[in-house]
Amino acid sequence: MEIISSISAMQAWRSSLPQGFRVGFAPTMGNLHAGHLSLVEKAKSLSDVTVASIFVNPMQFGESEDLDAYPRTLARDLESLREAGAAAVFTPSVVDIYPEGVEHHTAVEVPGLTDVLCGASRAGHFKGVTTVVSKLFGAVRPDVAAFGAKDLQQVLVIKKMVRDLLMNTEVITVPTMREADGLAMSSRNGYLTKTERQLAPRFPSVLTDFVTAVKSRSSTIEDALETARKALIKHGFHIDYLEARKTFDLTPATSLDTEVAIFGAVFVGKTRLIDNHVIPTL
Ligand code: PAF
Repeated sequence: MEIISSISAMQAWRSSLPQGFRVGFAPTMGNLHAGHLSLVEKAKSLSDVTVASIFVNPMQFGESEDLDAYPRTLARDLESLREAGAAAVFTPSVVDIYPEGVEHHTAVEVPGLTDVLCGASRAGHFKGVTTVVSKLFGAVRPDVAAFGAKDLQQVLVIKKMVRDLLMNTEVITVPTMREADGLAMSSRNGYLTKTERQLAPRFPSVLTDFVTAVKSRSSTIEDALETARKALIKHGFHIDYLEARKTFDLTPATSLDTEVAIFGAVFVGKTRLIDNHVIPTL
């Protein structure tokens, strides 16, 4: 496995591949778990050669979010990627990606989809994501790139960016990997205390109850949302948002819509967890 730590070396490696080779890509911020490795697996199954990236992107962290505390576990991550069969790992430095600093860098912004849900709670977050993903795509030039469904809003935003900017990359959504108790795998789960970790799986289970109620038509979306909000509060979560939206354009959903998902972000203590469930066609 090649470890490539500069943009110029990445571009040179990409150009050295035989003509017509399909390149798969799994972008990450490191601190890898099985969910990330499933992105590598998916990218591998759709390409001749797979690149993963590890870059903790300062541009997608807000001022109140602790960029410095984000876990850096490079040696372990490289080992996992080697075992998963990545051909190369791209580990650029912050200076290489943002030579004049984040403030002075050209930004890529996707309007509309980024105004709601995580975009409303985390100002500037998606601008950071789309800017860095465009740069990573520019360096790796992937034919196919895999993103996790846990961050469904992020996937929708990236798909729109790729469509709008005519980028030559197919974006694939990979299903959320969950722990045995239903908690979505996330680097943030590592921040939970033992008691918080025991509480955390109640979050996805409230989302599942919502889907069951709406799907069986025993409740309208509005009533089921109210029930879900009450259940989360009763369990002791602090709700950032809990909303049912159309997966097409993220506008609010009613029981008359198809292609609907429930999106939630909650705090367990100081840790913010996000999750979503798509409702099978109503
Ligand atoms: O999903 C993530 O880990 C990040 O947002 C991404 C796509 C690697 C961009 O930094």
